[in-house]
Amino acid sequence: MDPRSEVLLRQADLFQRPLLLAGLPADDLLGSLPQASGWTWHAGDQAALESRFAGRSHFGTTPPEVAFGAAVLFLPKSRELADYLLKALAARLPGGELFLVGEKRGGIEGAAKQLAAFGTPRKLDSARHCQLWKVDIGEAPAVPDLEALAQRYRLDLADGPLDVVTLPGVFSHGRLDRGTSLLLEQLDGLPSGHLLDFGCGAGVLGAALKRRYPQSRLTLLDVDAFAVASSRLTLAANGLEAEVIAADGIHGAPEGLAAIVSNPPFHQGVHTHYQASEDLLRAARRHLVAGGELRLVANSFLKYPPLIEQHLGPCRLLAEGDGFRIYSARR
Ligand SMILES: C[S@@+](CC[C@H](N)C(=O)[O-])C[C@H]1O[C@@H](n2cnc3c(N)ncnc32)[C@H](O)[C@@H]1O
Repeated sequence: MDPRSEVLLRQADLFQRPLLLAGLPADDLLGSLPQASGWTWHAGDQAALESRFAGRSHFGTTPPEVAFGAAVLFLPKSRELADYLLKALAARLPGGELFLVGEKRGGIEGAAKQLAAFGTPRKLDSARHCQLWKVDIGEAPAVPDLEALAQRYRLDLADGPLDVVTLPGVFSHGRLDRGTSLLLEQLDGLPSGHLLDFGCGAGVLGAALKRRYPQSRLTLLDVDAFAVASSRLTLAANGLEAEVIAADGIHGAPEGLAAIVSNPPFHQGVHTHYQASEDLLRAARRHLVAGGELRLVANSFLKYPPLIEQHLGPCRLLAEGDGFRIYSARR
């Protein structure tokens, strides 16, 4: 059981009523709180929750249309995302109660101050290196407009300007990542056919690819509902059309791909986490056609080439700079 769930269960009497658990971990909490529903924006957590508690967890960027008189937000990493989520929940809770739970090292103490926008926050519990806070909502605030919270920036690419739209919580919110920037300079000569931007974030690479290879079918994939929504906004802002899917890991990607292009994930929560990236290197072969290419950017210190060579084929270094490397390998 996640320590934040353990803290909630220390106060289980408070939660025996229609309740929404927002950003909940994929653990047994729903089993212990029979009147609770879940809301998650992580496709992997949603799949795990759905398989154990069918119909009780919902995936997306807005609170689900279920009835609840109280809600618990599991504090996300991004402050802007927490701000949006708290407003979205409070808007559904006139006269209700909004709880916030999080780890101390995740910044719960400071984040609790964000509750002051709705009333006077009270700390209810502190245990397992976590804290639980609560605020009573009087008059509910207006429903926040997610798109209005997007940050937009323009890239001057060789084939013209590209507008990027990033929503709160999405990787590299409001600015171009240096690794992505290096990969954007190395998109020439990809095989034609079905292309995948794996871990698409705001869709910078996918949108650039669709414009560079207009005849190619393009799929963008990310585990995060806010990234998926951002990618759709980025594509629309540039008049481009592509398929955007929410899935956890390369296993959720289509097969028969001509190329997989990626700035793969390397952080998760407060830990550095390479699982999704290592899975990508191990399983890319299964998703590529013969002659298909995996092209990715990685921090120079990451030892990806041996894994790529073991599972796909000879790994070439296409470019290097600013602490990043671009690797390419063909099946
Ligand atoms: C380093 S960011 C790159 C984002 C974007 N491609 C760019 O270059 O700006 C990696 C992305 O992978 C996504 N991600 C993390 N774990 C994932 C998983 N298991 N499956 C799919 N995407 C994942 C993250 O949400 C994030 O958007």
